[in-house]
Amino acid sequence: MAFPSFSDLKKISPRKSLLIALCLFVSIPALAKKKEPLSSWLNREKAVAVKRMFANISPKGGALGAVAASPSKQNPDYWYHWIRDAAITMNELVYRLEGFETPEERQIETQMLKNYAAFSRLNQKSKAKTGLGEPKFNMNGSPFNGPWARPQNDGPALRAITFLHWASLLEKAGDQKSVLNLYDPKFPQNSLIGKDLDYISTHWKEPCYDLWEESFGFHFFTQVLERKALLKGSRLAQKLGDFPRALFYKNEAKSLELEISKHWNSGRGFIMPTVNQTNMRYKNSGLDSSVILAVLMGNTHDGFFSPEDDRVLATALALENVFKKIYPINRQRKALGIAIGRYPEDRYNGTNVFKPDNGNPWVLNTEAFSQFYWTLAADYSKKGSIALTPRNLSFFKALPLKHKFVSALKPGEVLRAPDPLFQILIGALRRKGDSFMAVVRRYANPDGTLSEQIDRKTGRMVSAQNLTWNYAGFLSQDRARH
Ligand code: NOJ
Ligand code: NOJ
Repeated sequence: MAFPSFSDLKKISPRKSLLIALCLFVSIPALAKKKEPLSSWLNREKAVAVKRMFANISPKGGALGAVAASPSKQNPDYWYHWIRDAAITMNELVYRLEGFETPEERQIETQMLKNYAAFSRLNQKSKAKTGLGEPKFNMNGSPFNGPWARPQNDGPALRAITFLHWASLLEKAGDQKSVLNLYDPKFPQNSLIGKDLDYISTHWKEPCYDLWEESFGFHFFTQVLERKALLKGSRLAQKLGDFPRALFYKNEAKSLELEISKHWNSGRGFIMPTVNQTNMRYKNSGLDSSVILAVLMGNTHDGFFSPEDDRVLATALALENVFKKIYPINRQRKALGIAIGRYPEDRYNGTNVFKPDNGNPWVLNTEAFSQFYWTLAADYSKKGSIALTPRNLSFFKALPLKHKFVSALKPGEVLRAPDPLFQILIGALRRKGDSFMAVVRRYANPDGTLSEQIDRKTGRMVSAQNLTWNYAGFLSQDRARH
């Protein structure tokens, strides 16, 4: 129906005018909705994230304690317990236990963790093809024996980090018995955490598949998480009097540091995801947003490849620049921010058809960039200073800032808290952090549910729906804001 001009209005039948009135009635609330502040949407979305994440933990049709990567059973089939996705998800549950919750909520979540611990023990003990390096299990707990990219050694590291996190909470609460259930200092090889730590310390020198289940070699993401698990594990072993292992884990973590540092490529000016990669010749830009996920999940707050490391900042900027260029939705005039993918050469769009330019932006990576910027804002505020270096200067200059502030930024300068420019940069970091969530909001389904990917051209949600990791990722970025 063509829209009538004013002079036409008189001629309009009552039925038509009713229709027009109806159109206006429907479109006005739609317009009003667009103006909802981001913070208000984030609040509403948090409830969706919690609900949908919980729905995938011990879901109907799966064993108690199993975490489905997504309820999607075909195109793609993600109805499996992935060690990585499950550990990342359950770690968010531990963070919730740290917060203000009602006793009922705490009880439910503690029970979920207990079930997950029991399920994980079964995974560890089962005769899976690559033992603890096995990336995924059937939802009934039996090993998945089909062809797959295995082993993936980030799994045991992430799982250990989650249970070490929980153990630290139990310890603070004085529940020593539960702590000893997770790590037995006499027989660490017989406990949940001990098994993973022993596996990591004896396998980190071997190549494996990466977190995207594709590239074979030595991965920054895997190694950074292995190091964190070993350091945290060493501390717990020490506390519980298991001194030989405390020392062993710590030494292995130190040796890993040397390997992790090899990922910095000074010629290219960014951190490479993989060294000695033996497959995927087409994956050659050296850019991969798993580097940002690694520094967030692997943060040990000791300055080792921390988010504010200038090598990390340079990498983040290089990633944004490439994704801005290759995804049509990022090139739109009205783009609210940059949708982030896994890596530029990605060919996986959720189907079995792999071809160049198939790769899409991912929700969990876009959320991670938001978390990254909010983490930077919080860390710099705490520290009270920002050091501008030749390596990070372009990163800061790319922040949403007025031109006069951009040109005021000089390498070698240290901006301190009282300096107004310091506060301006903190504000810009937060605004930039929000821009990534504005992108997630724009492409989320109207009911707030999130699929794995955002179609690079149409912006439609594609691939696995209700991806559990998306909701955990939402909660991670939410934590970084507080
Ligand atoms: C290939 C994808 O690239 C990889 O990341 C994914 O895990 C598997 N297919 C399974 O869907
Ligand atoms: C594909 C991703 O590449 C991988 O990291 C993830 O574990 C699986 N999907 C399951 O979500």
